[in-house]
Formats: sequence, C-alpha cells, structure tokens
Amino acid sequence: MKVRKAVIPAAGMGVRFLPATKAQPKEMIPIIDKPTIQYVIEEALDSGIEDILIISGRSKRAIEDHFDHAPELEAHLAAKGKENELAAVRRISEMGNIHYIRQRQPLGLGHAVGCARAFVGNEPFAVLLGDDVVRSAVPCLKQMLAWHAELGGSLVAIEEVPLEDVSKYGVIKGAQVRPGVYRVEDLVEKPPAEQAPSRLAVMGRYILDPRVFELINQTAPGAGGEIQLTDALRLLVREKPLYGYRFEGRRYDVGHCLGYLKATVDFALEREDVREPFLRYLRGKVANPGG
Ligand code: G1P
Repeated sequence: MKVRKAVIPAAGMGVRFLPATKAQPKEMIPIIDKPTIQYVIEEALDSGIEDILIISGRSKRAIEDHFDHAPELEAHLAAKGKENELAAVRRISEMGNIHYIRQRQPLGLGHAVGCARAFVGNEPFAVLLGDDVVRSAVPCLKQMLAWHAELGGSLVAIEEVPLEDVSKYGVIKGAQVRPGVYRVEDLVEKPPAEQAPSRLAVMGRYILDPRVFELINQTAPGAGGEIQLTDALRLLVREKPLYGYRFEGRRYDVGHCLGYLKATVDFALEREDVREPFLRYLRGKVANPGG
C-alpha cells in the first residue's frame, strides 16, 4: 500500500538547545537561512508524501506561521520589487498539505505519534523527527519507501554509532536479510552501552504499520518516564515484520550544538553563494584558530 501520509512530531521543548529555544520552537532554528523543519518537510514532499501532520504544542505557533501566507511581508517585497525573495516566501506557503494537531501534554514520542491516529487512519505512514536532518543524493525517506514497497511491513532508518553513543538512541537487535537491511528481532530505548544488543541505532525516520497505534495505547511509560515509540515497536515486532535500513547519506543531530555546527558548515559548503568565501574563511581559521 502506498505511503501517502507523514507525521512530524514537533512538540518537544528543546531543552538541549536552551536558551535559543526559550521563546521559539527548536524546529524554527535555521541551518543557514532555512528552519530545520523546512528541510524535513522538503524531504517528505520530495519522497512523494502528500499529506503531513505536524504534532505541535504550546508556544509552537511560529511553525504554523512559517508555512502560511504572509500577506504583509509579500506586499512589502512586491512593492520593493524583490521578486526572488517574494517567490521564495510564496513557495513555502504553497508547500504540500500541512495539517496540525496539538499534543496537550509532553508525555513522550510514542504519545506524540499516537496523536496522529485519526489523521492516519488504517494505512502505513511515515514519521520524521525534526532533530535528524539528512543530506543525501536520494532523500532518506524515499530510499526507505523503495524498500517498503518491496518488503512491506514496517521500517526504521538505522546507523552504526560508536559504543559510547548507543545510550542516546533506540538500538536494534537483528540479522541482515538484504544488503543494508536487517530484520529486527528486538529493540531497546537508550540502553546502557554494556546492555546494547548492537551498535545499530534508530535514526529519526520510520515507516509504520497503523497497528502501532493500538500498541502505543498499551505502552507504559519507559525510559525517562515517557511513552516511548521504541517500546511500542518492540510489541509490534512480535506480531509483524519490522526492518532496519542503513540509509545512504549523512545524518546530523541538529538538536545539539556540535551536530548543529557540523550541519551548518556542510550545508554552507554546498551553497554556491557562500561556498568560496566561507571556505577561504575556514582555511584561515584552521591555519590560525585564535585569529
Ligand atoms: C528519539 C527516539 C530514539 C531514536 C532517536 C533518533 O530519541 O526515542 O529511539 O533513536 O530519537 O534521533 P530522542 O532523540 O528524542 O531522545
């Protein structure tokens, strides 16, 4: 069955990025000049997704404004003859069908995804987490959808991480069934290094069977006292196939400082308008870090 719908949880408080996130949603923090959530939405649309539900929360209104028309700004840009800027601003408000619902209490990622039940109905759907931005030749979700069309079931994006990092992620136990594709036998949320079943960590892209909604309802609070999506998937594995896919591309955790800085540098070096002067600046910096 074709995957038409995607869910983007965006209700988190952004504690790892304070003080920037005190009065603005972390999803609106830009990499160069584009909010991170726009990268994620573009990935979904470039993968063929038709409808997107953003799970929003209190103090997240800037996200809705960003994807809405901005009549005053547009009139101002038109009056000044700033055609390029006007086209860019208009393009954002015409991006796909974006829907919103609020998660009323911050009860965890599993609970946030559970808020999408009425929107999704009884069809497979994608979940994209905004902290993970992926740079790749083929959009990460599109790569996953190709495997989903072939294998069916559910699919999570995975990446091998250093042992000291496994405790930050959901981690799978599984056996490779195709190049880069693992049949997941079990998974565990944020295990201590010595208890991790592997170094294959779940990254923020999922294609899920709607059965997961029932299972979220049966999931008790887990790691961090929150209802974890990983724990619901653990139940799903007992009933239906779940695959882990090592996607091609580079992932940035833009929810913390170093990942954010790396993303900024790498994305800037791909931008024709800033690449050369920025590279010159970086070379000078490397030669003389204190200068
Ligand atoms: C969430 C998930 C975790 C996953 C991670 C990917 O954790 O709970 O399983 O590995 O995203 O970024 P969070 O980063 O919200 O703590």
